[in-house]
Amino acid sequence: MKLVPKSPNVRTPGPASLLPGAVGDFRKPVSRSRTIRIDFRNIAIAPESLMDKFVIRGGNPLVGSVRISGAKNAALPAMAAAILTDEPVILENIPDVRDIQTERNLLVSMGAEVELGYGRASHRTTISCSKLANPEAAYELVKTMRASTLVLGPLVARMGRARVSQPGGCAIGARPIDLHIKGLERLGATIKQEHGYIEASAERLRGGHIIFDKITVTGTEDLMMAATLAQGETIMENCAREPEVTDLAALLTKMGARIEGAGTHTIRIQGVEKLHGARHRIIPDRIEAGTFVTAAVLTGGDLTLTNCDPSHLGALIQKLEEAGVRIRTAPDSMRVTNGHQLIAADITTEEYPGFPTDMQAQYMTLATQAQGTSIITENIFENRFMHAHELVRMGANIKVEGRRAIVRGKTPLSSAAVQCSDLRASASLVIAALVADGETIIDRVYHVDRGYERIEEKLKGVGAQIRRIGEILPKRATAPSVVA
Ligand code: UD1
Repeated sequence: MKLVPKSPNVRTPGPASLLPGAVGDFRKPVSRSRTIRIDFRNIAIAPESLMDKFVIRGGNPLVGSVRISGAKNAALPAMAAAILTDEPVILENIPDVRDIQTERNLLVSMGAEVELGYGRASHRTTISCSKLANPEAAYELVKTMRASTLVLGPLVARMGRARVSQPGGCAIGARPIDLHIKGLERLGATIKQEHGYIEASAERLRGGHIIFDKITVTGTEDLMMAATLAQGETIMENCAREPEVTDLAALLTKMGARIEGAGTHTIRIQGVEKLHGARHRIIPDRIEAGTFVTAAVLTGGDLTLTNCDPSHLGALIQKLEEAGVRIRTAPDSMRVTNGHQLIAADITTEEYPGFPTDMQAQYMTLATQAQGTSIITENIFENRFMHAHELVRMGANIKVEGRRAIVRGKTPLSSAAVQCSDLRASASLVIAALVADGETIIDRVYHVDRGYERIEEKLKGVGAQIRRIGEILPKRATAPSVVA
């Protein structure tokens, strides 16, 4: 099987639109309706070559209003869902972040047409998978974004086969995908694993009974998508209940799928012969919202978040209210003010609706400034405390013992040169820098760019002193050739 198609298409309809490239922020203005051919043969994401850093001077309270972007973790499965139909799927409120660019490149490499909105519609993406030719997710893309495995289920369901690179380990832990594989086998797929790839095939998937050994978000999403086109009924138990799962079910239902129970532990899916196109608006990003809330609390600010859904942030809001923070919510906005000394409080990360692991790092920064000792227990991933070492370098008192971190506050934070290790760890360092004494330099901000849309502009807009420095220098050997 060939690794990549020769001439995948990205249609860029507007004069002001930018082609998000596969290597870093490789961007090139293009003229209206021009079709760009990207030669994927030379592509390798080379994050080391992205030299951007943030310089942040701490001390300013965040005051004003921030618009929250669409949820990256809802947009990624929604884009994969487009594989399930030969009609166009139009997605709105798609965040402009690097992981979304990676997913676009992945779909394009399989033969999909991905049209990018522009101007006011710059957060709209139309995906047409009528000419899918190459059901393969190559290592070069999967290694930079584990969520690429979300294409596995939809590809087998629609094309009868899929070849997806094994994701391997990542910074925050082993993160296997055995539950995706077991589930697909339960739906009748034959799975082969060789040369670092998972090859799945099935004439047509058939409904089955899947009980997840462990709750998995993308596993639930992957198999829910696969089951929509299977023959007969699928019952999935011990499913993830995250809002992103519910959002995906809403999109699939608009596409003609028959799904009941999304958002609960048991999901029932009646397979259908065919799905059709649909238009769907992605839910707001609860983790981006939570990150800004945390930053506002820490800096003693007064921040209003718009285009958000506070009902998805219950565990965080409850914890902050316990600590004396004032939070007022409306259906699609919230205002957070804090003029109090924070009091230490313990958290334990859990599946939704528990405290999200994706907010653990940011909460740890908060805990460094609370009075007393906070115990943070990480239950979801085994190695998700890398930010602790960097926070200690900034003056925090944190002791990591296995899955527990003991944070003793309050210790003043002082500026330092620090380094991002993963997406949410980076957010915790940005927040720490906002209250640190002096100018902090944060390296490897490509981790931030994976999941936060223009974070420095949003922070600057509410009073932070933050600057992006450095140049994006794709390495010669790994730059993609773009043929206009
Ligand atoms: C998703 C989110 C990520 C979040 C995580 C937990 C996306 C794109 N990413 O990741 O931001 O941190 O949920 O809320 O939505 N596991 C297995 N076998 C499997 C699958 C998972 O053992 O086949 C384990 C994992 O190693 C982990 C736990 O289950 O310990 C939960 O992982 P999972 O919910 O699958 O995380 P992701 O879906 O990868």
